[in-house]
Amino acid sequence: MSRLARRLHVVIGKGGVGKTTVSAALGLQLSRAGRRVLVAEVRVQQIPRLLGAEGRGYEIVRIADRLEAISLDPKEAMREYALMRLHSKLLVRSLLENRVVTAFLGFIPSLPELVMLGKLLHCVRTGEWDTVIFDAPATGHGLTFLGVPQALRDAVPPGALRSEADWMQEILVDSTATAVELVTLPEELAVNETLELAEKAGQGLGLPLGRVLLNRHVPLRFSDEELKRLEVGIASEKLAAASRAAREHEIRARRSRHFEERLRSSLSLPLVTLPMLHPERAFGRAEIEALAERIEAAS
Ligand SMILES: Nc1ncnc2c1ncn2[C@@H]1O[C@H](COP(=O)(O)OP(=O)(O)O)[C@@H](O)[C@H]1O
Ligand SMILES: [Mg+2]
Repeated sequence: MSRLARRLHVVIGKGGVGKTTVSAALGLQLSRAGRRVLVAEVRVQQIPRLLGAEGRGYEIVRIADRLEAISLDPKEAMREYALMRLHSKLLVRSLLENRVVTAFLGFIPSLPELVMLGKLLHCVRTGEWDTVIFDAPATGHGLTFLGVPQALRDAVPPGALRSEADWMQEILVDSTATAVELVTLPEELAVNETLELAEKAGQGLGLPLGRVLLNRHVPLRFSDEELKRLEVGIASEKLAAASRAAREHEIRARRSRHFEERLRSSLSLPLVTLPMLHPERAFGRAEIEALAERIEAAS
C-alpha cells in the first residue's frame, strides 16, 4: 500500500501545468494499488474522457476497477445540500427558484466554493472511497476554495454554518487525512508560483503539503564529455542535424535539472519528476498510464 496515500489529495498549481493530467494519473495509480478512488473536478468533465470513459452530467462516472470520477457544480451541490437539510424536493426546488432567495445567496461570499468543497469533503467522510483526489482550480481560485472554511469560521457566529466550516476545516488541516500536491513545470514562472503557493497553502492556511510533481521534465542523456564530442567534427549534414537536436535536448534537460534542484532546496518535500511525453496522437490513456507508473515507482 502506498505510504503517501491519504484520504484527500488536493492537486493544485498554475493553469496548464498538468493538474488534470496528474489527478488522472494519481487516481489510476492509487486504484491499482488497491484503493477505492474518486477523482473530483470542478464544472468540467475532462478526467473520464482522458481515461477513455464517457462523462454523464453530474453523476458519478465509473472509469475502471475502484476508480470513479465526479464533476462538481455549484448549483447541483447547492440543491443536494439544501435537500439534505430540508428533506423536501418540492421545498428545495421552490426555494432555489425563488428570486429573492437566489439573490440573497449571491451575497454570501464564496458560497459556490463552500458548497462544492462541502460536497467534496462529504465524499471524503462517507467512507465510500478510500481516497478522494481533487483536481483543484488554478492557483488563486484553488486557494480561495481551500480557504473558505477558515474564512467562514472567522466571519460567522456559532451556529449551523459555523459547524459546517468546523468539520470541513478539521479534515483539511489533518496531516493524516490530507495532502496538498503541488504540480509545476521546469520554468521560472511556474516554479516561482509554486514556491508562493506552498507558502500560502502551508504557512498561510495551515494545510499539510504532500509532494512536488515536476511535470514535463526532460532527463539528461549525455555526459559533459559526450556533449563536447557532439560539438566538434561532425561532417555529414544528417549527423549535424542529429547533433543539433541532441544539444537542444540537453539545454532543456539542464534547465529541468536546474529547476528541480531549486525546488528541492527551497521546499523540503518529496519531489517526483514526470517526463515530458510526445504522444503520436492525442494525449490519452496510454500517457496517463506511463505517468501513473512513474508515480507508483516514486511512492
Ligand atoms: N507530461 C506531459 N507531457 C506532455 N504533455 C503534457 C504532460 N502533462 C500535461 N500535458 C499536456 O499539457 C496540457 C495541460 O495539461 P492539463 O493537465 O490539462 O493542465 P491543467 O489541468 O493544469 O490546466 C494538456 O494538453 C496535456 O495533455
Ligand atoms: Mg485542468
